[in-house]
Amino acid sequence: MAKNIILIGFMGSGKSMIARELGKRLKRDVIATDDLAQAKEGQIIHEIFKSKGEAYFRDLEHDIIKEVSLRQGIIIDCGGGVVLCQENLPHLKSNGIVFYLQATPEVIYERIKNETHRPLLKVPDPLGCIKELYNQRLPLYNQADFTIDANSASIEGPVAEILERIQ
Ligand code: S3P
Repeated sequence: MAKNIILIGFMGSGKSMIARELGKRLKRDVIATDDLAQAKEGQIIHEIFKSKGEAYFRDLEHDIIKEVSLRQGIIIDCGGGVVLCQENLPHLKSNGIVFYLQATPEVIYERIKNETHRPLLKVPDPLGCIKELYNQRLPLYNQADFTIDANSASIEGPVAEILERIQ
């Protein structure tokens, strides 16, 4: 059975759109870890953070990663902070190929500045916050099997590169 295709990267790096497109082209199931967290809790991500806190969300995310890593041949769209728990990447890699979608903090900021559902960016200086989190997480994202340039507005380049890599 085919290995899973796993997408990691910062919020706004295009994971969900690219995952959906890969799912269509490869006729594979697409699973978003955030969707599973919301379904399990019956709350949207922002509410989970607000009522139960980030640590609770990270534990939930970790349980979901263990669960989805047991599946085969699927595409997994991971929440941006999935790399924070050091056990998550080994689980994901045990049965899949991990792609880091890299976009600069400036590109990310432009893409998500008008969105309101991202709990970590509800701060007075979102660009500063993105830069700080980005720098903290970069060494973790760099543990992916492949880094894909996701700075372009079009998803075609990243999709084609991922398809080529899994051939
Ligand atoms: C987070 C990213 C979000 C979501 C949560 C935390 C993060 O997912 O899991 O808000 O820590 O970067 P997306 O990357 O899909 O926005």
